[in-house]
Amino acid sequence: MASICSSDMHEYIASLLARGEMQVVEKEVDPKYELAAVVSQSQKQSDKAILFKNVKGSQFPVIANIYGSFSRMAEMVGAKEEGLNEKWLSIFKGFSQTNNDYINIVPEPDDLQSGKLSELPSITWREEDAAPYITAGVFLANNPDAGTPNLSFSRCMMLNDDSKMFCCIDAPHDLAKYQSAAEANNESLEVAILIGAPPPVFLAAVASLPIKQDELQLAAQIAGGLLDMYACEHIDLLVPAASEIVIEATIRANERVEDGPFGEFLGYYCDVNKGAYVLDIKNVRWRKDAYYHGLLCGSREDLTALAVSWGNRIYRDLVDDFPGILDVTINPTLFGSIIKIDKQSEQHPRDVIDAVFRLNPLYNRMCIVVDKDIDIHDLESVWWSYLTRGNIDTRTHLFSDLPDVENTNYEFSGYLGIDATMSLDAKLKRSSTPGEHEINLDDYFST
Ligand SMILES: Cc1cc2nc3c(=O)[nH]c(=O)nc-3n(C[C@H](O)[C@H](O)[C@H](O)COP(=O)(O)O)c2cc1C
Repeated sequence: MASICSSDMHEYIASLLARGEMQVVEKEVDPKYELAAVVSQSQKQSDKAILFKNVKGSQFPVIANIYGSFSRMAEMVGAKEEGLNEKWLSIFKGFSQTNNDYINIVPEPDDLQSGKLSELPSITWREEDAAPYITAGVFLANNPDAGTPNLSFSRCMMLNDDSKMFCCIDAPHDLAKYQSAAEANNESLEVAILIGAPPPVFLAAVASLPIKQDELQLAAQIAGGLLDMYACEHIDLLVPAASEIVIEATIRANERVEDGPFGEFLGYYCDVNKGAYVLDIKNVRWRKDAYYHGLLCGSREDLTALAVSWGNRIYRDLVDDFPGILDVTINPTLFGSIIKIDKQSEQHPRDVIDAVFRLNPLYNRMCIVVDKDIDIHDLESVWWSYLTRGNIDTRTHLFSDLPDVENTNYEFSGYLGIDATMSLDAKLKRSSTPGEHEINLDDYFST
């Protein structure tokens, strides 16, 4: 199956509209709470993307929930849901074999328009958020030492000031390391913030690669071709030509400010972050009829994007070292991984559970291992296998903190491992009806 990942958000939105995968809101919505409330409520009913055509106070249509569907994420890389991990793995393998020659430098688009930060939608997402925030801005920066491009996310707190914003970059992230390297020389760090980034660029930004690896190159690998890039006007960076909106900025050296509170991905407000950075805005430009991507943190879109990336990291960590690893998901809760195996021995599930917690302690608080016939994307099926295939006591493993593994799960301790497989000599035979999977109900029901 070829990738249908469009390298252009405009094209991708047109295709979502054409196939009825996008809900359109014509009526005016208030960017303070109302837009977020619609996103939140809509995600409870459907995983369709949303296009807000009329957002009060701004000329920009706002798109949301673009990445809020596992099947769309799989389709973007040319896979089906159950083949998503394998496909990602092949992209990673292919990617490490390619050379650096993946950029096509092009003139800047003819339709670029300059404007001000205050012309962008000012969206307040949650009741106690300190201000409106840009939540889906992909940060592109080059390593000040090695030059390697990095893609990541950092929420930007809008200050009612066209010249600056505050942003939050967690210390372990590569961008924070780039910033420290620049600061060591008392220099600011140049960043381009892409809103409505081309889908392959967004996907590469969600993935986390070792600091020496080039995440733009990963984007090119996902796109399956060269990345058209043009030079920024005020900073020394190339940016993907298909980006809807580009903010050129620098992060001030040796200055920290406060951002937040803000409703984060875990569904709670963070405390005020005293280590936020100051972004000096150098330039704001957008394509004609640009879409502004707004992402409700903690919602399906946020969690699905992270689940694809983190789940695949677990899959990559396991698949070469363990026999019989078939698939991994961390949907629907980021804190629990579900691993499908072709069971090799009675010890096999337990070994997999141990490895998952050792290799990926971050955010991983529960691991369930299931047999190969179980649909890991269907929690009902996962729990059914746990409760009907064997002992509860001997298949449930509670750990305190793991020796030699740093507990990175915030302030909480403990891990839960569940072996939901059946014993290799179990006589359980799953019932089925011939033809049930091939039936087309439209051939039977008249209304
Ligand atoms: C929608 C979204 C928003 C995010 N917002 C932030 C943020 O505000 N600050 C942060 O430090 N990380 C944030 N992250 C996490 C990282 O940017 C992301 O996991 C990235 O892969 C880390 O990049 P790195 O591997 O280059 O270090 C966000 C991730 C997503 C998917």
